[in-house]
Amino acid sequence: MRVGMLTGGGDCPGLNAVIRGAVRKGILHHGDEFVGFMEGWRGVIENTTMPLNLETTSGILHRGGTILRSSRTNVKKIPGGFEKCLETIEKNKLDALIALGGDDTQSISLALSERGVKCVGVPKTIDNDLSGTDQCFGFDTAVSIATEAIDRLHSTAESHNRVLVVEVMGRDAGWIAITSGIAGGADAILVPELPIDLDEVCRLLKYRHDHGKKFSIVVVAEGAHLPAGGQSTHDTSLDAFGHARLSGVAQALAEEIEKRTKYETRSVNLGHTQRGGTPTAYDRMLATRYGVAAIDLVHQGKFGRLVVLKGTQISDIPLADAIAKTRTVGEDLLEVMRSLQPPVGAV
Ligand code: F6P
Repeated sequence: MRVGMLTGGGDCPGLNAVIRGAVRKGILHHGDEFVGFMEGWRGVIENTTMPLNLETTSGILHRGGTILRSSRTNVKKIPGGFEKCLETIEKNKLDALIALGGDDTQSISLALSERGVKCVGVPKTIDNDLSGTDQCFGFDTAVSIATEAIDRLHSTAESHNRVLVVEVMGRDAGWIAITSGIAGGADAILVPELPIDLDEVCRLLKYRHDHGKKFSIVVVAEGAHLPAGGQSTHDTSLDAFGHARLSGVAQALAEEIEKRTKYETRSVNLGHTQRGGTPTAYDRMLATRYGVAAIDLVHQGKFGRLVVLKGTQISDIPLADAIAKTRTVGEDLLEVMRSLQPPVGAV
């Protein structure tokens, strides 16, 4: 079979491992040929390609980013976009298309499926908020990076008796914040799932200071809702899928915390550091399993589907189910977070 592959949306560690897994299984076991489309859906619209074979996918397993590059190209917003995609698919004589991406990318896979293209999706988002899968690859790496940063920030916060507010990624879900926050021993963790309660944050910090610790770490997801309402944005611009550029919540909180508590407070935004560099062994493994499963789905003729992780097993679900809603942090993890904090009224 001739199979196209692309990586869309924000990059994340493990994309290359998925590509390699699919290409190796496809070539070595099914006799497939692959076409790599450059820069997400832009490559399909413009028919810009690179060869994907055993040579071009060799030595990429441990490399971050994506050899196919990425973009947030929204086919729906480009006049004649879908027609151009169909033309490219025809020109390249493709039997199937594998798209690695989050809900935005998969919404285009779904739209193309509805136009007769044989699509298979692989769930990718650092935010880990794609519905229907228990984990997206790249998330474990992001959590490791954020946890290491929190560990490092402890010593400088302690040396200066400061509060440090650490901003991590997570547009609509606080998976990175809650996981790295708990793993890093943060004193307060703020996620988009719950409105920020500044009185409660200051109570937690004050309790800690009153019990002999003169420094504290607060972890906040970039998409956490400000006490005054809304999310903190870099500017008023929106990306091609209509998302704001989130940034600055940690700085806004740091200023308010210092004003209220009089503790010296600083903010750190970990930003794209969380998406860069080499994937963890866990992510290489998960990404490889996803890549192999994606090409297997192609050969089983199961199209319009997304490979997913259910518990410890790889499975698949309809693309439509994956983009129907955001997977947010559940009450169970929020309860673990609260269990580690002094309850209201503790003195
Ligand atoms: O959607 C994943 C994500 O990493 C978000 O956490 C973040 O808000 C956004 O992408 C950043 O996008 P960009 O790389 O386009 O600035």
